[in-house]
Amino acid sequence: MAQNIFVNAIVKALTPHLDLSGTEIEGMIATPPDPKMGDYSFPCFTLAKAMRMSPKDIAADLAAKVDTTDLLEQIQTAGPYLNFFVSKARFVQEVLRNIRSQGDRYGQSDIGQGKTVCIDFSSPNIAKHLAVHHLQSTMIGNGLYKIYSALGYKCVGINHLGDWGTQFGQLILAYKKWGAADKLETDGITHLNQLYVRFHAEAEGNPELEQEAREWFRRLEDGDPKARDLWQRFKDISLEEFNRAYEMLGVHFDSFAGESFYCDMLNDVIERLETAGIATESEGAVVVDLEEYGMPACLLRKSDGATLYATRDIAAAEYRKKTYNFAKMIYVVGGEQRLAFRQLFKVLELMGYEWVKDCTHVDFGMVRFKDRKMSTRKGDVILLEDLLKRAVELAKSIMQEGEMEHEVPPDQMDEVAAAVGIGAVIFAELASKRVKDVAFDWAEILNFKGDTGPYVQYTHARSSSILRKAQQDVVDDVDVDLLTDETTMAVVKQLERLPAVIRDAAEVYEPYFICNYLLDLCGATNTLLHKHRILKNEPPLTNARLLLIDCVRQVIRNGLWVLGIKAPERM
Ligand code: ARG
Repeated sequence: MAQNIFVNAIVKALTPHLDLSGTEIEGMIATPPDPKMGDYSFPCFTLAKAMRMSPKDIAADLAAKVDTTDLLEQIQTAGPYLNFFVSKARFVQEVLRNIRSQGDRYGQSDIGQGKTVCIDFSSPNIAKHLAVHHLQSTMIGNGLYKIYSALGYKCVGINHLGDWGTQFGQLILAYKKWGAADKLETDGITHLNQLYVRFHAEAEGNPELEQEAREWFRRLEDGDPKARDLWQRFKDISLEEFNRAYEMLGVHFDSFAGESFYCDMLNDVIERLETAGIATESEGAVVVDLEEYGMPACLLRKSDGATLYATRDIAAAEYRKKTYNFAKMIYVVGGEQRLAFRQLFKVLELMGYEWVKDCTHVDFGMVRFKDRKMSTRKGDVILLEDLLKRAVELAKSIMQEGEMEHEVPPDQMDEVAAAVGIGAVIFAELASKRVKDVAFDWAEILNFKGDTGPYVQYTHARSSSILRKAQQDVVDDVDVDLLTDETTMAVVKQLERLPAVIRDAAEVYEPYFICNYLLDLCGATNTLLHKHRILKNEPPLTNARLLLIDCVRQVIRNGLWVLGIKAPERM
């Protein structure tokens, strides 16, 4: 299966001398920590027992038997390792050829063919503004969606809207008492928030309100049309705001089946859990006791009959397995819900679902804002829409004032500013390990020379600009020997990594692998642009370097695509 001709060549060279299958040999091939030691290595430790020789002797023995080829130029031993040096020219040729022939598909593969991945992400609560942790979930989820799609999986992006629960009884009641249709129209979620706040303030001195609100939720759960109509209105208003943000972010969902979607399935879930003896009644409530697993009980139904978040998650998991038969289900939700997911997975396990092993809670840390203005607005809530708009404004002024040469035609300025501003926010969200907290600082995330989205986009635009200025077509048939100097090889080596980086990112659910990778590629590229002139050389050299730059442009674009970031041609 290996698409890499060098690995294939090593497998072919070693097979006659070892009692191992090609796949086994391939699995053992590694990359030396220092490229000076070789491009690939074959460690001999595990062979020692069967061959009754020391790893070092095995390596020496193999080195004596294996011949160099036009692909494998040098073979050396380093203690227990057999190290291979590939032909630089052939390596360059191979990498560039792959990129040029695969274009936008370079980096993708089909290892996920025929398998489905469900990704539960973003999943905000209706009647509340989108908050920053939803941005994180949205962008990590979107990144994983693209990463898994790139690997050939069929992805189902699910927005598990928080649109059910006792709070909607409170909201209905508050709206009936103090709400106004015109305010709902103009202020949207903000009006709902005010009602919510007022409800809690008033309920403090008047506990009967709580009782009335519970009654409204019961009516909602029973399908009472009055309750349903209002709830639907709150939901529509909320979705309008959410969709505006999703549109700005370029995020798409395949399903908006939220908590309410499962409400008809909940009685059945609870009944089955009780019949199976997994759930028990306790003071009028239904719970799954998880004490022996070191967790608090999982509450399925309150004594007033109301169902809970967890109950709906159990129903959702069953439904998704039945509907999509997923090979994996990923929940992209902040770390504060770690316990909730451990409980959920345990209950699913107790229900006998072996597929619970395919469910993963992909959590993440918090975003801290260094910008006072952002964090004090409207209490602690940072409105996502405001954040994105601010990013676009700032990007625009940086581009207009900066010392950057101006290439963006005025009529495209807004579009490019949106790509850069939003790209900067997304990159900043994704650039560190998920569990790490992110410190968010405008000057930092928009620094065109820092480890940022705009820096990567700028390297892409710079490459595009060189290709435009060349005023000639990129030719594929170039003298690859001209691309084997150290500076150029550093770029080619980065270009070669994208497919592996995407696979690795999928394995541990870490889009930041792609960010790091892009920064490395851009670093190597900018060093090259600093040292080498691309245009106005002897034609063979110009042709070769233009081909390389075209591949850089393509690979940055593909990497940004995976992150959900646009790659403008000019900026
Ligand atoms: N609505 C929840 C929140 O805003 C997140 C839901 C995550 N998905 C799930 N299946 N529980 O915190």
